[in-house]
Amino acid sequence: MLNNKTVVLGITGGIAAYKSAELVRRLKKKGAEVFCVMTESAQQFITPLTMQTLSQNPVFTEMFGKVHHWNVEHISLADRADLLLVVPASANIIGKVSSGIADDLLTTTIMATKAPILMAPAMNVNMYQNPVTQRNIKNLKELGYRFVAPGCGDLACGYQGQGRLADLDVIMDTVEGLVEDNKPLDRKKVLVTAGPTCESIDPVRYLTNRSSGKMGYAIAREAHLMGAEVTLVSGPTALKPFSGVKLISVRSAQQMYEAVLKNFEDSDIVIKAAAVADYKPSEEANDKLKKQGGDLVLKLTRNPDILAELGQQKKSQILVGFAAETKDVINYATEKVKKKKLDFIVANDLTKEGAGFASESNIVTLIFSSGEVEKWPQMSKNEVARKILSKAANLSKEKECEGIG
Ligand code: CTP
Repeated sequence: MLNNKTVVLGITGGIAAYKSAELVRRLKKKGAEVFCVMTESAQQFITPLTMQTLSQNPVFTEMFGKVHHWNVEHISLADRADLLLVVPASANIIGKVSSGIADDLLTTTIMATKAPILMAPAMNVNMYQNPVTQRNIKNLKELGYRFVAPGCGDLACGYQGQGRLADLDVIMDTVEGLVEDNKPLDRKKVLVTAGPTCESIDPVRYLTNRSSGKMGYAIAREAHLMGAEVTLVSGPTALKPFSGVKLISVRSAQQMYEAVLKNFEDSDIVIKAAAVADYKPSEEANDKLKKQGGDLVLKLTRNPDILAELGQQKKSQILVGFAAETKDVINYATEKVKKKKLDFIVANDLTKEGAGFASESNIVTLIFSSGEVEKWPQMSKNEVARKILSKAANLSKEKECEGIG
């Protein structure tokens, strides 16, 4: 619920502006106080009167317009907000905020607020995919801004592709998660692993895999937002961890093993999203290997199975594994749950479009130690992360209750 919460809703110009009317209705239904700030272009698509009627509050449209009360408008709105939403967020507003431009009421309010900011972009697919827009979104994400990615389908401009405003259900879930006082992972310690490992052959060469680390980083970020104290043990990736997440950088499976084991006892929930190399070269050459005539045979030695070791050592921790498969997903993943003594495993089929390593989204199936199987639809990695964490939080709570009972 959003009782006693103030949501400032920024509306920018785009056909999806009409959906902000429904969003206001839903926010109000959940108990939020809503103030709308509309840009000039937004008013071409939907009238302030509509938003005023639905929000039951004055609508703010001008930087230097009629004074509603004695406070400076953008500062007062910025201070009052528990959450600042921008729905729909045009390429223009994303670009302006990313560049630090504050030239109207909405951009100045965004600049002045300390509340979390959530943007739901909606635009033409080519505008969304434009590297400038993508770079601006990436920059803002790194600064802690949150985004609900647009969905795919028919766009008002006649194009097809990613650009339509995300489902209002998804926006509402994200809003609730963000302003939640009752954080489900409060006082919990969550240990996450992410990325690939690199196994050195010589000083310049190594064996690795295609893991981008995105899933693990999303889990670390969401766990932090859900109130947990998060340690992220990561192999080499191009990603920056969310601020507030403690990062331990490692390279090899052996280094990951040591870092994870060191932090295991203290953890309540462990999520092993890393793609750990099962083998490493038996010998690491001190000098760069020189080519010889004929073939080169590389002898490999088994790396420790970190998760299996955690399964052996586990006491009250909730242990979650990942299984990346290319066939027989459920069978292989079920075996791993048993073998590694997991509470559940998140299995994905790497051959599916919209799933796996480099993708922004994932399509996963959860398999629990009880044998229960849950298939989830395609979701962004952040959404998958949040849902995995909610499951783990519930199991952790159940275990706590068993302990007390
Ligand atoms: N894992 C691990 N240590 C390893 C290998 C895997 O901790 N040396 C963990 C992964 O982080 C993941 C889970 O085990 O959470 C499953 O990894 P996966 O590579 O899918 O399976 P493996 O156990 O390596 O089995 P296989 O390679 O036969 O599929």
